Amino acid sequence: MPKEARAKPGASPPSSASAFSGRHLLGLQELPAEEIRLLLEQARRYAPLSTQNRTKHPVLKGRLVVTMFVESSTRTKNSFNLAARRLSADTMDFAAGSSSLSKGETLIDTAKTIEAMGIEILVVRHPASGAPDMLARHVKAAVVNAGDGSHEHPTQGLLDIYTILEEKKRIEGLRVGIVGDILHSRVARSNIWGLLKLGAEVWVCGPATLIPEPLRDLGVKISHDFDALLPNLDVVNMLRIQLERIKGPPMFPSIREYARLFGLNAARMRRAKKDLLVMHPGPLNRGVEITPDVADGERSVILDQVANGLAVRMAVLHRAAGLAPFAEGGAE
Ligand code: NCD
Repeated sequence: MPKEARAKPGASPPSSASAFSGRHLLGLQELPAEEIRLLLEQARRYAPLSTQNRTKHPVLKGRLVVTMFVESSTRTKNSFNLAARRLSADTMDFAAGSSSLSKGETLIDTAKTIEAMGIEILVVRHPASGAPDMLARHVKAAVVNAGDGSHEHPTQGLLDIYTILEEKKRIEGLRVGIVGDILHSRVARSNIWGLLKLGAEVWVCGPATLIPEPLRDLGVKISHDFDALLPNLDVVNMLRIQLERIKGPPMFPSIREYARLFGLNAARMRRAKKDLLVMHPGPLNRGVEITPDVADGERSVILDQVANGLAVRMAVLHRAAGLAPFAEGGAE
């Protein structure tokens, strides 16, 4: 095994890091700042290993991780599966479409059935906000939320924060803009909770119909003028319009109008800070919220976000397994 591939989860932990406070990961809203820092540190330790194809860490050997995605996903599901395998866990994919869920079985019954097969960690994506919370109250397995409706997507929030930290070396005092369909975005919500707890100044920006005013009560700043906001930002996280969640009449005049007012393009980038960090959780709608030249440009860290997601999910699975921070697994 190459030297750098030996992750150092056993290296001496900071004194505050005696234990994680729980195993479920339902959202960043309920996670104290200290726990977020611990997970980020755990991810940093796993990072060298996360990109090695031929090496594994034995920390989850003999454990069964099930991914149960009742909503489509490309990167999140693959990322969880790969993270679990990098830690030597056995993995099982529960294909919701071909399961008894489509025959009317309740989510809890389905989960209990697969739990009877001995799973310890259940990674769930569901279109209903709150589904992972409900499961966590009914099954013994540790439940990890991989995105529930427009509620939370905690591992995306963590990997976004991890990526900012890697690039900017701090979170506190940074001005972070989240631009787009904030109303329907679980990514926005998890970012907001995490970033505020770690001391960032968080701005949301988009058409008034897609920005929930109560966010102000959390300490989030609201703008509807992207051109005025952008020059002040250190980080911008561009979000997709979640057309699949918009029911009823349209919430803005047209996609073309939206792209003109809120899309990130080369002309706007010229007015931004030279070291602005450009982020996007994917999937991208190129030409709508971001133009291809900016998405693929030198200030974009979109693919770094994907790569960092692996290390972050390894850390989250480590915690879900009930292991102490930085604990080594069994023998290889
Ligand atoms: C996001 C999601 O599913 O919430 N994607 C992701 O997990 N990377 C964002 C989106 O769908 O727009």
